[in-house]
Amino acid sequence: MKKLSVKEARLEGAIGAAAKIEGWVRTRRDSKAGFSFIEVNDGSCLGNLQVIAPVELADYESEIKHLTAGCSLTVTGEIVASAGGGQATELKADSVLVHGWAEPTTYPLQKKRHSLEKLREWAHLRPRTNAIGAVMRVRHRVSKSIHDFFHEDGFLYTHTPIITASDCEGAGEMFRVTTLDADKPPRDDKGAVDHTQDFFGRPAYLTVSGQLEGELYASALGKVYTFGPTFRAENSNTSRHLAEFWMVEPEVAFFELTDNIDLAERFLKRIVADVLRDCQEDLALFQQHIDKTVMERLEGLHNGSFTRLPYTEAVELLEGSGEPFEYPVQWGTDLQAEHERWLTEKHFAGPVVLTDYPASIKPFYMFVNEPDDQGRRTVRAMDVLVPGVGEIIGGSQREHRLDILEARMAEQGLNPADYWWYADLRRYGTVPHAGFGLGLERMVQYVTGMANIRDVIPFPRTPGSAEF
Ligand code: 4AD
Ligand code: MG
Repeated sequence: MKKLSVKEARLEGAIGAAAKIEGWVRTRRDSKAGFSFIEVNDGSCLGNLQVIAPVELADYESEIKHLTAGCSLTVTGEIVASAGGGQATELKADSVLVHGWAEPTTYPLQKKRHSLEKLREWAHLRPRTNAIGAVMRVRHRVSKSIHDFFHEDGFLYTHTPIITASDCEGAGEMFRVTTLDADKPPRDDKGAVDHTQDFFGRPAYLTVSGQLEGELYASALGKVYTFGPTFRAENSNTSRHLAEFWMVEPEVAFFELTDNIDLAERFLKRIVADVLRDCQEDLALFQQHIDKTVMERLEGLHNGSFTRLPYTEAVELLEGSGEPFEYPVQWGTDLQAEHERWLTEKHFAGPVVLTDYPASIKPFYMFVNEPDDQGRRTVRAMDVLVPGVGEIIGGSQREHRLDILEARMAEQGLNPADYWWYADLRRYGTVPHAGFGLGLERMVQYVTGMANIRDVIPFPRTPGSAEF
């Protein structure tokens, strides 16, 4: 007898097959006509398989009639055409084996709908709900799409380290990795903590980005990408920030800013196309229960083109918009969420790529432009903003000229000795190169419409919260 997933068993083509299915009970309903209906889900798809369990089964009175939400089962029988509406097939059971009961007075996922906030308290059980199950299937599809896109385009998947000594973004938001006793660290003659006695012989941190190491590999292998967890100790409790999130970072040698934007646009369109094709059932759930604009947004991104706009022009548009923004817009400051929303949701109604930001608000590694006619300095940065989420991608052309890089590091108070290897890249066969980072969770938010980033990652890590 063949084991089928619920997804396979729901297909019309399965009719007539002798099958075994395994999963968790969603509901049980007893019919007076001599059988019970048991809805079983195994996570393979949104839909359940309806199992028909006749009273003639040996354990009908002792077990089947006591099944409740959350119980785990193996059922064997025949897949038949379903008489009822709503599904093509059902399983006529000839045996039902209960693996584990789920005490109904304490099992939290009863039939009533729970808020997403409430479900976060049950992070261990919430993947059994329709919404979180659907998000995780889409998250998988997006991840696979990312690998497919880069592989087909000739990129090498490069694993950059999680433990690192350098602060790529220079924002001082790194988590320390140490084996020193926090209460009694070893001290040197001057009373300062003696980092030479720490595990790595120096201070070490969890990475905020694999970019710097990615640049090293792109400068040998041409086209590389990293895709892994990154960490930020930024104390912002928002619906778009996590302390641990997954980032995809392509890095390409002999690449300039416009090549980089073209790559980002092609990349996002490919992910959206795959999701639109392969996740229809889950998207319908998001469209109905989470965000009515999901389909329109995805189809818009897929069919339209991204607006490209220098930061300076965006600031002029915002200044002239007449909108009563809470924060004033001023050349030289970062745009706030409300400004991003106005650009992507109101003015352009679609994805916007902002480029050439003021040098003073961007990290040291970005390529410095010639000063503009007012003498203002910008860098070849690119942020991709999308409706509903805001910044989804941050990237740039990199500064490949040693003298300018060193000046920028000095400007930002970085110690060149800490970055000697990064500077070496500019000493030996330097080339123009560029790359970007896509936050996986923000991408999943975009394609699902989930408002809070905590609901698109299995175990969210946020300030004050790291249970399990
Ligand atoms: O703009 P960011 O900080 O850029 C970098 O880290 C570059 N080194 C990337 C590169 O060029 N290789 O981060 C990139 C993206 C953001 O646009 C956002 O989508 C996501 O990472 N991101 C976060 N997602 C969740 N929680 C956070 N705290 C995030 N910080 C950034
Ligand atoms: Mg950014």
